[in-house]
Amino acid sequence: APIRPALAAATRVPFGAAIQNELMNGQTAYRQLFVDHCDLVMPMNALKFNLLRPTEATWNFAPADRVVDFAMANGKTSRGTCHVWWGATPDWVKAIESPSEAERVLIEHIERVGDRYKGKLIGWDVVNEVVANDPLYENRSLRDTYWLRTLGPRHIAIAFKAAANADPEAQLALNDYDLEFKGPHYDERRTIVLSIVRQLQDANIRIDAVGMQGHLYADKVIDVEAIDRFHRDLDALGVKLLVTELDVIDCKSPPDAQSQDKTAAALVSRFLDALFAFKRPELLVCWGLTDRYSWINEVMPRPDGMASRPLPFDRDLSPKPWFEML
Ligand code: XIL
Repeated sequence: APIRPALAAATRVPFGAAIQNELMNGQTAYRQLFVDHCDLVMPMNALKFNLLRPTEATWNFAPADRVVDFAMANGKTSRGTCHVWWGATPDWVKAIESPSEAERVLIEHIERVGDRYKGKLIGWDVVNEVVANDPLYENRSLRDTYWLRTLGPRHIAIAFKAAANADPEAQLALNDYDLEFKGPHYDERRTIVLSIVRQLQDANIRIDAVGMQGHLYADKVIDVEAIDRFHRDLDALGVKLLVTELDVIDCKSPPDAQSQDKTAAALVSRFLDALFAFKRPELLVCWGLTDRYSWINEVMPRPDGMASRPLPFDRDLSPKPWFEML
């Protein structure tokens, strides 16, 4: 039985997932999983700067088009991630030293890409992971990136402004991780996000949403009260809360499926309780759908070498208990 029966279909939060276009070839069952279960299907990587424009002279829209067309052909919405991300700045951009040239390239990129997908994407992660990883320890609020070094904190405003120009209807979001947990480090990260939102608004620059990535960890404590407060604080500023990259990183539970799935269900349930305490989040997106393909398998594999189970469907594409909660 559904663990959260009160969430009838009609009131369900729109559910989405990121798809890897390179896995779509001939993978009928993989593709069908998104068709069957998602309201929104978005490219996991194809809209990142380095993949869209790997050299100054090369634009590569085909992979992103493929996902967006797939979404539209199946009656799904889609969204874009991301214009500004330290992990996706191409080398040719990083070689630009002049601030005015860097600004020109950033605006050109966002305006061209935003315009190209206008009307096809409900929104964009305009900036991704701009908050310092550990602000208290590093004694800085923003992450040290090419964009920060070259343009300063104003690169955030520049990006949001360009995104709004390019696609006035798109929901423009700031997206970040580690906004879900208990502790001074995480409190500080939430505080920094709120202050970026206020600074943009004070400058009359539109920001519509904050994306919590929602990479949950078995060894981090979800702070229900802090998430609730954060949600209310954002709402008071007129900014929506989205969950953009939900999955579960569990290097701790016993390796068997039952133990891992029990841990995941408890974490997701607690996270949903925190999100729903105030009001329904606008959107809930998982970072993939099946354990067969997840960045966790490469980036944060279990130390015991056993298979991870980060996503709502297992390697055989069967739903796990926590999928019923969504
Ligand atoms: C990851 C993808 O899942 C990988 O396929 C890719 O190689 C690197 O990026 N936070 C983010 C996402 O904002 O964009 C990252 O996605 C995962 C962490």
